Amino acid sequence: MWHGAVKIGVNELDLDHANIDYIIRSILERCGSDLDTQLVPAFLAHIEHEEKIIAAMDRKFPAEHKKEHRHIAVVLHLLEAERNKNMIDDYKFAQEVKTLLTLHVLDFDTKLLQTTEGSC
Ligand SMILES: [Fe+2]
Ligand SMILES: [Fe+2]
Repeated sequence: MWHGAVKIGVNELDLDHANIDYIIRSILERCGSDLDTQLVPAFLAHIEHEEKIIAAMDRKFPAEHKKEHRHIAVVLHLLEAERNKNMIDDYKFAQEVKTLLTLHVLDFDTKLLQTTEGSC
């Protein structure tokens, strides 16, 4: 559980990451798993959740981080479209999403509590 091991310090968001990681690992370990349809919705829901949770903590969400979320959403939709057209298989699809999540957690999410300051 790689992402579950990299804590960002907000329990609800760490649980989201661990859940997405679980879906990814399930797809990678069992090709054809019905969890493949849950991966993109789970990731998109997490992005929205992350921004709401930080706002609820009275912290300003960094503009660059928000911009990266929008970029990830576009990439996720593209990957899903490629998978639906059988241009990539479930394994490649899960690997690509894993890379997206891994880089994002390391480059942005782990810095959330350090870079977000109180809004007042
Ligand atoms: Fe994020
Ligand atoms: Fe996140």
